[in-house]
Parts: sequence; structure tokens; C-alpha cells
Amino acid sequence: MSATARAAADARIAGLLQGRIHDCLAAAPWGGRRVVLSAFWPIGDEPDLRPALQAWARDDRLELTLPVILTKAAPLEFRAWTPDTPMAPGAYGPPIHPAWVRAAHWLNAAAVLVMVASGWRIYNASPLFGFTFPEAVTLGGWLAGALQWHFAAMWLLAANGLVYLALNLATGRLFHRFLPLSPRGVLRDMAAALRGHLAHDDARRYNQVQRLAYLFAMFDIALLVVSGLVLWKSVQFGMLRELMGGYEAARRVHFVAMAVLVGFVALHLAMVALVPRTLRTMIVKS
Ligand code: HEM
Repeated sequence: MSATARAAADARIAGLLQGRIHDCLAAAPWGGRRVVLSAFWPIGDEPDLRPALQAWARDDRLELTLPVILTKAAPLEFRAWTPDTPMAPGAYGPPIHPAWVRAAHWLNAAAVLVMVASGWRIYNASPLFGFTFPEAVTLGGWLAGALQWHFAAMWLLAANGLVYLALNLATGRLFHRFLPLSPRGVLRDMAAALRGHLAHDDARRYNQVQRLAYLFAMFDIALLVVSGLVLWKSVQFGMLRELMGGYEAARRVHFVAMAVLVGFVALHLAMVALVPRTLRTMIVKS
């Protein structure tokens, strides 16, 4: 559902509830006691009635309450709510990122860091283009050392990537976290982000620019692994080598994919710096 259709559906639901509340208040003449209205705070795709909650909170005849889950396997408790009440995390709140996503993310980041830094040292031994990387930002000290780092981190990158992809597919997370995705949606969210209008209030939902960037990073890492296989075992992966246009072409593909990934990481870090509270969600259960 597009953001506009969702907002329209939310407004319709709020309108229907408003009608019910009106009928209820009309049927029980004002005797000084407020009518208790129990509401909910939306999670994921649930209807977002928060604008209506704000309006109802201003109605003196109503007392708004929201549920809190204090302990697991116990009935919900409802607490009075006004717009200035701070929200407390409940006992059940599902983590924004499951533990396996957080673990895979940081293992991946470590592997990428080692692969890129050692890769630059390997490149310096036989540059493809007219420049080399400063030794200070490379890893391994010399070619053989760099190759050892590169091959060690390669197993981590590939195994961790496979586990991450398999779990994302098996749990259906790949589909509900990263889809739907459309060129129109990406342009709309990009325009909203550039105007500073993109909401960050729901950390459980990636906007379409994030979805595209993250899917692209996954694809790019897969391309790095595949082109790396050609460079590592060019004879054994002969068919892959020919598909890439030969050994030299595979080297270029590998380099360009590395450069694009470094660009992604730079942008990614800038985005995290702009919305720093997302960092906590990628570290601890929140
Ligand atoms: C170095 C290579 C890195 C790659 C390839 C990478 C890639 C990704 C991907 C694909 C996701 C989405 C994960 C998912 O939901 O399944 C993600 C999320 C995230 N990453 Fe990274 N990342 C890298 C490094 C970092 C670093 C160094 C930081 C922080 C300093 C960071 C912070 C985050 C945060 C906070 C999120 C969650 C964003 C949100 O909830 O809005 N990442 N990253």
C-alpha cells in the first residue's frame, strides 16, 4: 500500500471511530466522569491513529489509556496516557532488529573492513589504474600478508552472508522488510528526504531509499564474492570467468564493486550520523 493510500485508510478508520465515540458520549450524558478510551500505539503495519489520539486527548470528556505489558504471559495493563507521557518499553516489545540480524551485520562490517583494507594492499602490488592506496590505510604489510588477511576474511564474509540471506528468506523478513520497492516509491522518499520531510519515527520500517540501498549492498557483496572466486580459482571457475569476460575483466568488476561498496559505507555512515538513535537498535535489543 502506498504512503498516501495508507494515510487515507488510517484517516477513514479514525473517522469511523470518531463517529462511535461521538455516539457513545451522546448516549451517556456528561455527569462529570470521563469515558475511558483504550487505544494502541502502532507497530509495523498497524493503522496509525496517533493524530486522532492527539485530538481525543484534548477532549475533556475522554480519558485515554494505552496498554503496557509488564511481565510476560500476564494480562495487559492499561495506563492513562496524555501526549506528554514518555513511552516505556514493554516486556514483550519485539526487537527492531532480531539478534541474528545484529550479529550478522557486525560480522559483515568487520569482514568488509578487513577485505577492503587488505584488498587495497593486494592492489598496490600490481595496480590496475594509475594510482596506489596509501600504505597507512592498507592491511597486511606486504603482498603475502595481505593475501592471508583477505583469504581469512573471505570465509567470514561468505559464510556470514549465506546465513544472513538464508535466515532472511526462511523468516520472510527479506520480503516484508525490503519490499515493496518501486522507482516511484524511491523517488518519492528521496524527494521527501531531501526536503527533510522523511519521518524517522518508525524504526521498524525502512523507507524505500533505504530498502534500495540495502538490497544493492547485498547484491554488490554477492558480486564481490563471485568475481573474487574467479580471481582466486580462475581455472576451477572457468565458466564464471568467461561469463565475466575473462580474468582481466573480472579484476575490473571486483575493483568497481569494491569502490561502490566503499561509497555505500560512506553514505551509510553519514545516514547513521544523521539519525544516531538507529545505531542503538543495531547493537542492543530495543
Ligand atoms: C562496513 C560495511 C557495512 C555494510 C555492508 C552494512 C550494510 C548494512 C545493511 C545491508 C543493513 C540493513 C540490515 C538489515 O536490516 O538486514 C544495515 C543496517 C544498519 N547499519 Fe550497516 N553496514 C556496514 C557498516 C556499518 C557501520 C560501520 C555502522 C555504524 C557505525 C552501521 C550501522 C547500521 C545501522 C545503525 C543500521 C540500521 C539502520 C536503521 O535501522 O535505520 N553499518 N547495514
